[in-house]
Amino acid sequence: MYFPTYRPRRLRKNEALRSLVRETELSVNDLIYPLFIIHGQGVKEEIPSMPGQYQLSIDNLGAEIKEIVALGIPAVLLFGLPETKDEAASGAYDEFGIVQQAIREIKKLAPGLLVVTDVCLCEYMSHGHCGIIKDGEVLNDVTLELLAKTALSHAEAGADIVAPSDMMDGRVAAIRAQLDESGLTDIPIMSYAAKYASGFYGPFREAADSTPTFGDRRSYQMDPPNAMEALREVAMDIEEGADIVMVKPALSYLDVIAAVRSEFDYPLAAYNVSGEYSMIKAAGAKGWIDERKVTMEVLTGIKRAGADIIITYHAKEAAQWLKERNCLCQ
Ligand code: PBG
Repeated sequence: MYFPTYRPRRLRKNEALRSLVRETELSVNDLIYPLFIIHGQGVKEEIPSMPGQYQLSIDNLGAEIKEIVALGIPAVLLFGLPETKDEAASGAYDEFGIVQQAIREIKKLAPGLLVVTDVCLCEYMSHGHCGIIKDGEVLNDVTLELLAKTALSHAEAGADIVAPSDMMDGRVAAIRAQLDESGLTDIPIMSYAAKYASGFYGPFREAADSTPTFGDRRSYQMDPPNAMEALREVAMDIEEGADIVMVKPALSYLDVIAAVRSEFDYPLAAYNVSGEYSMIKAAGAKGWIDERKVTMEVLTGIKRAGADIIITYHAKEAAQWLKERNCLCQ
């Protein structure tokens, strides 16, 4: 329209110019790295559908945490694989449960590293659903008590942030009340506020052994076509006391991230989920895409859409690449 007076290419001429006018800058400070913790000794089992990601036993955390800290990643998100599962998800709120043990160990290894815990019951339930089951239905209100107990046990073990991912209604209020009653008023809640019933969780369910034995999660996780509903979910969670809200998954929901960003002035996280990671790894391994370029493009895109925080399995490699770029090595 303004051509030839305005020539957008002028500011794309070289890297110095491009970096001068760059609107979005991905930083290692934005990243949270998920970890899968398992019982046993010396376990470092690669997750077949998530190359480069492992189930780790507690005694293997030392090396892992050292690497994460050295890369400057500020936070980890913990998932646990319990020894046994039951109909009450007892392992989720056991003082000596797998996540509780891992929290204490990580806090010993690196007190400054933020430990975020996924608060959910599915990994601990014999049926793999995120709540108590009666007559084939996932019950909402009775599940809240178990979620609150789980969040409390994580916080008591030393977690810095608790992150409920179950999608039961009212769980943020229940967790906030439980933490406050127990004197843990300073522990923030990062709620998976707009979490969709997504096919992109497939590889995670292998990693965390949390596939439901019957049915699916569509009666509690959100229906993918809905965006306005995401705003209601976020508004509710903020009202109930969420400190950070999340949209999940990220890539197929960038519009939702952008909408939440423009409606709410709360810190916003996006979860770059397992299937999004696996697709890049698979196409990269086949040589179909430039893995590094695509990864950074995806993470930057999530940030550009409006996320302040990105939970991603790419965190370690992205942190390394960001370091290399910052020193102008290439
Ligand atoms: C637990 C939970 C899931 C994920 C995070 N927390 C799985 C699910 O809801 O089925 C998915 C994370 C990923 O795919 O990377 N409810």
